[in-house]
Amino acid sequence: MKKVIKRIALLTSGGDAPGMNAHIRAVVRTCIARGVQCYGVMGGYQGMIEGKLFEMDRRKTINIIAQGGTILKTSRSEEFMTVEGRAKAAMVLKEFEIDGVIACGGDGTFHGAHQLHVEHGTQIVGTPGTIDNDLFGTYYTIGYDTALNTAAEAIDRIRDTADSHGRVFIVEVMGRHAGHIAMEVGISCGAEYISVPEAVSDIDIINDKIISLGRNTRVIIIIGEGGELGGAPELAKRLNEAFGIDAKFTVLGHIQRGGSPSVKDRVLASHLGVAAVDAIIAGKTDVMVGRVYHEINYTPLVATWSNKKAIQDFMFEVSDILA
Ligand code: F6P
Repeated sequence: MKKVIKRIALLTSGGDAPGMNAHIRAVVRTCIARGVQCYGVMGGYQGMIEGKLFEMDRRKTINIIAQGGTILKTSRSEEFMTVEGRAKAAMVLKEFEIDGVIACGGDGTFHGAHQLHVEHGTQIVGTPGTIDNDLFGTYYTIGYDTALNTAAEAIDRIRDTADSHGRVFIVEVMGRHAGHIAMEVGISCGAEYISVPEAVSDIDIINDKIISLGRNTRVIIIIGEGGELGGAPELAKRLNEAFGIDAKFTVLGHIQRGGSPSVKDRVLASHLGVAAVDAIIAGKTDVMVGRVYHEINYTPLVATWSNKKAIQDFMFEVSDILA
């Protein structure tokens, strides 16, 4: 028989992502609408282990929809990666009489959520919150669209100076082992070469490209972190050593994680917040609540990381033709 949900806990975990606050707001307000108490967990899984739970109400969610970061804070808890750490967390959930948990984060967060479910029977659903967009089962993750726009704005500025000087510029974007940010940002900024971890990249091809465009022509190369070329500084060094090319480089880094969320991220975060509370009430567990073509769907947590979310073929074709 389906249990009655009286109280849930909500946490944000792993790398923060713009839109997490809009998601928190949506979860809290949906709980109020459905007559469920919502407890916020401060500091992700580490906060859960340490019993940092407090009751959320509507007031705590006022004026946060446009804020970057997460008011619940976050962590990458090493203790929660251990059996003992998860046992402590499960005890805390019992003490606080939590009936279900919503964990917003990326694949690390979902690994933890799955283990908690397997070892302690915790009812838990994940919601996709990561700028990397690397989770199978949802078209976009919360934070991805904002990160794309932040990176694109920065690269547009770099292109101005690159163009004025006729220079080669290498810009490294985030994505851990996934090239979604690199590919979409590269296309949107009219990059001459895009290197993603999912495909083979070759410095000879980059050199040919630079030569074909002619000396003193601006060349923008977007490189996703985690690829075989070894990052922007390394690629600049290799181009210099192999071909005498004087390439400038920029690593955009954590700038991509901050800032006010885009409209798309706010709406996605709100939609998934409502859906996640309803999923818990409906008895769902060990799944991610995602969205594909405006439809909410549920993907087993294991499937979100064991299936690779591929960059679609047309993206490679478009970037090749237009570069
Ligand atoms: O997962 C999001 C992300 O920003 C990745 O793109 C990046 O590789 C990683 O987190 C950086 O993590 P941290 O902020 O812990 O160094």
